[in-house]
Formats: sequence, structure tokens, C-alpha cells
Amino acid sequence: MNIFTKTKDIEEYLLQLRQAGKTTGFVATMGALHQGHLSLIQQAQQSNDVVICSIFVNPTQFNDPADLEKYPRPIADDIQKLEQAGCDILFNPEVSEIYADHEQWHLNIGELEHLLEGKFRPGHYQGVTQVVYKLFNIIKPDTAYFGQKDYQQVMVISKMVQLLNMPVKLVMCAILREPDGLAMSSRNIHLTADDREHSLILSKTLNWVKDNFDSDKIVEIKAAAEQQITSEPGVELEYFEIVDGDTLHPANQNTKNIVALLAARVGKTRLIDNMIIRP
Ligand code: PAJ
Repeated sequence: MNIFTKTKDIEEYLLQLRQAGKTTGFVATMGALHQGHLSLIQQAQQSNDVVICSIFVNPTQFNDPADLEKYPRPIADDIQKLEQAGCDILFNPEVSEIYADHEQWHLNIGELEHLLEGKFRPGHYQGVTQVVYKLFNIIKPDTAYFGQKDYQQVMVISKMVQLLNMPVKLVMCAILREPDGLAMSSRNIHLTADDREHSLILSKTLNWVKDNFDSDKIVEIKAAAEQQITSEPGVELEYFEIVDGDTLHPANQNTKNIVALLAARVGKTRLIDNMIIRP
């Protein structure tokens, strides 16, 4: 695997590949890689000549300095995992390589960035669009792969690409889960054994909603789901919403694409999960 830390070097290298007619697939990550990240790499490998992964813990998307501070950074392990997965190129820049001092700009993609996660993590999606905009400009991928795990992130990035006419195709990849249902996440390592048990209520409730969706009104289903989660010890629900998968506004019985999304604190760890209820 070719590893680049400098923007100029990877740009030059990728220019040559493009001139040689190679297609490129890109997976952006913040590292602490797990099988969920690697499944994105595998999907990218199926349709591209060259696969590029970035590992960059983006400071501008963390609204809690403590969260940024304790974000896991096992870079040697990550490199090994990427080598094993057959990833072609890693871009692993320092913060100073991506951001000049006092960079203050952000994109405004409209209301999508202020709903759901946006409400609980103000400014988060401005940091995400800022870094993904830069990464797309550096890598210039034909196709970029993002996980449904961060459903709203996919919607936000897709809006940015649409508004700015960026020449990249986006693919949303399925959520990888542990055998017991917990969605894989770099943050799961912070869960204590008790937290880990309690966290199962999240995927259990989403499955329950999917299985029982047509049996009652949406308000009733939502209330029952909230009840299930809030009665689990050690779990503090931030939101549980059943929304139109395109607009992220509350769904009604006639909505075509329906997604249930949630965020909760399990012990000290904040987890998000979602499930497509009606595709
Ligand atoms: P990160 O949380 O490292 O996730 C990188 C990619 O892996 C995202 O597209 C995410 O949705 C996907 N992913 C995470 N867990 C997954 C799972 N269990 N199954 C499938 N895919 C999963 O998301 C980010 O980083 C950042 O916001 C980033 C886009 C890199 C911008 O900084």
C-alpha cells in the first residue's frame, strides 16, 4: 500500500493514475478501523481500479473537545488492516496539511445539517462538509463510499455534491453489526461490559419498529420505541425519530422512504444507529 501524508504528493500520484485511465474509489475515515470501514473498502474494490482510504481525525467536526481528545488513533493497527484488505493507497495527513491557521469558512447546505444530529451537535456537519469538500478536491475520486451507519451524513454530503455540482458519484453502504446486533463503531471500545449489554436495546428497538411498523400509527410506534429505550438502565436517549428518508422530516403513513434514527448515551459513550423501515 502506498502511504501519503502530503497533499501535493498524493495529488501528483493520483493525477498520473487518472491520466493512465484508472478509475478511483474513495473511502474517507477517521481511523480506528473496524469491519464496517473495511466493508466500504471491499465495496470500492469491486467497482474501481484503485481504492484510496483516508485516515484523518477531523478536528472541525468535534463540538466536544474531550471527544476529540479521546478519539482512538491506533494508526499502526489501521495500516495493517488496510494492507490485509488490499487497499491501494492511504492518505494520512497531519491537521496542518489540511487546515491553514484560523480557517473560518464553512458551507451552508441548508436545513438538513440542522436537524436530528445537527440539533444535538451544532456545527458538526459544517465540519464534515468542510473536510469532505477538501478531501474530494484532493483525491478527485470517481466514486466515494459512505456508510448508512451515518445516514444523515450521507444525506448532507449528497446535498453538498448536488449543490456544488461536484463530479463524484456517491454510494451508500449497509451497516455492519456485531453478531448480537450492535452497530460497529470506533466508539464501541469505550463501552464498559455493562454498557455493552445495555447498548443492545438500540438495535433491538430498531428491529422491533421495523417488524411492527404496520401494526399501529407512527406516533404510537415512536412512543413505544422511546419507552423501550428509556426504560433500559444506563441508557439516556437523545432522540428517536421516524422520518422521511429523503427530507429527514417526520414521516406519515404515506411517506415512501421511511427511516428510524436514534442517538443515545450509553454510560459515557454517545452512540447512533438507524434502520431503513420502508425502502
Ligand atoms: P468514521 O466515523 O471513521 O466513518 C468512516 C465511514 O465508515 C463513514 O462513511 C461511516 O458511515 C462508515 N461506517 C462506520 N461504521 C460503520 C458500520 N458499522 N457499517 C458500515 N459503515 C460504517 O464518518 C466519518 O468517519 C467522518 O465523519 C468522515 C466522513 C471521515 C469525515 O471526517
